[in-house]
Amino acid sequence: MTRKAVYKGLEDVVASESSICFIDGRRGVLLYRGYDIRDLAEHSTYEEVAYLLLYGKLPNRAELNSFSAELANCRELPQRLVVIMENFCRRLLPIDALRSCASLLKCYDPVEADRSVEANITRGIDLIAKFPTIVAYYYRINQGRRAIRPDKRLGHAENFLYMLHGKRPGRLDARIADLDMVLHAEHEFNASTFAARVTASTLSDMYAAITTAVGTLEGPLHGGAASAVVRMLEEIGDENNVEKYVKDTLAKHGRIMGVGHRIYKTLDPRVVKIRELARQAGERRGDLRYYKMLVRLEESIRKAGLNKHGIYPNVDLYTGAVYRNLGIPEILFDPMFALGRIAGWVAHVVEQYGDNRLIRPVSYYTGKKGLKYVPIGKR
Ligand code: COA
Repeated sequence: MTRKAVYKGLEDVVASESSICFIDGRRGVLLYRGYDIRDLAEHSTYEEVAYLLLYGKLPNRAELNSFSAELANCRELPQRLVVIMENFCRRLLPIDALRSCASLLKCYDPVEADRSVEANITRGIDLIAKFPTIVAYYYRINQGRRAIRPDKRLGHAENFLYMLHGKRPGRLDARIADLDMVLHAEHEFNASTFAARVTASTLSDMYAAITTAVGTLEGPLHGGAASAVVRMLEEIGDENNVEKYVKDTLAKHGRIMGVGHRIYKTLDPRVVKIRELARQAGERRGDLRYYKMLVRLEESIRKAGLNKHGIYPNVDLYTGAVYRNLGIPEILFDPMFALGRIAGWVAHVVEQYGDNRLIRPVSYYTGKKGLKYVPIGKR
């Protein structure tokens, strides 16, 4: 292809139509299926948001109860998968284990060949339900501790904390974890979701698409940002060092983690809520160190003039502080993102199948041409 217009990183390229998520990055608006994220964060649970994303409407009470029960009934992992996990978990990072398990779950799909919308939604619900169990089992196995089986009586996020820590979380911790998942559930054509859609567009199955998404999430410019923020905070050490760190980093043309966004050129609309959760989780644990440093960091980047260039905090500035005060170990931060985002991934994969066109862009060739082939013995 010799065309000159090249959109590196596909920036601002409208790659398809979608009715799942609307973002206005200049005004800081995020809607899931038409509903403002701030309203959902105020009133919804993760189960309700997952239903909304999958079915395109808010459930009534009976629908929500039945959906929540379906999720709870799907949480258990096949025993054979647990045996496989016991063999490989110690050698893999949790996000790699999650990616591998997402792929392996295909072996236990009783209707594997059925590609109907209903079968794909059922499959998606199964994956949404099992993701927290995989992450909690991974952690417990890796720690040499007994895996704790899911408890059907608990909510989705509450049950995750229970399986992780071995004791039922308090109401506030359960709600904070639930809201964190709500805030991460969906975000339009972000890298992992788009990657899932690319895979689905070849008519690969749901497991392949979700496996692709988890792999794409892993990098520090996407799902790895929360742990990168925590590493940055540890390097800074104290809230009184924040301003100097920001100045020094910017002077070296470095990046401040948890800041900046491809789409938002104003405050990410999820930040207000996640900041509040970080404060609540910190107060509940009596440890506001990270929270205070992050508030200072927000101030410092503003003073340094980043906001004027459309660089504001993104949702991941505060997520690490939330996780830390929920007692979630840093190694699990990347998969935590996946536990929320999987609902969005499934909704997008189903939407992609519904109006599919193979996603296959072109590149502008910058290599050589017309080279003369030299036989191997003469090179
Ligand atoms: N710290 C300092 N400067 C930043 C920055 C950050 N976190 N993010 C962007 N910038 C600056 C770049 O240096 C660049 O400046 P320049 O034009 O003078 O070279 C300008 O903003 C544009 O950056 P660019 O990398 O082209 O924007 P992008 O849309 O590709 O980047 C991110 C988006 C998310 C990759 C980027 O903001 C980033 O690396 N953020 C930190 C990681 C993070 O928090 N990721 C989670 C995202 S939800």
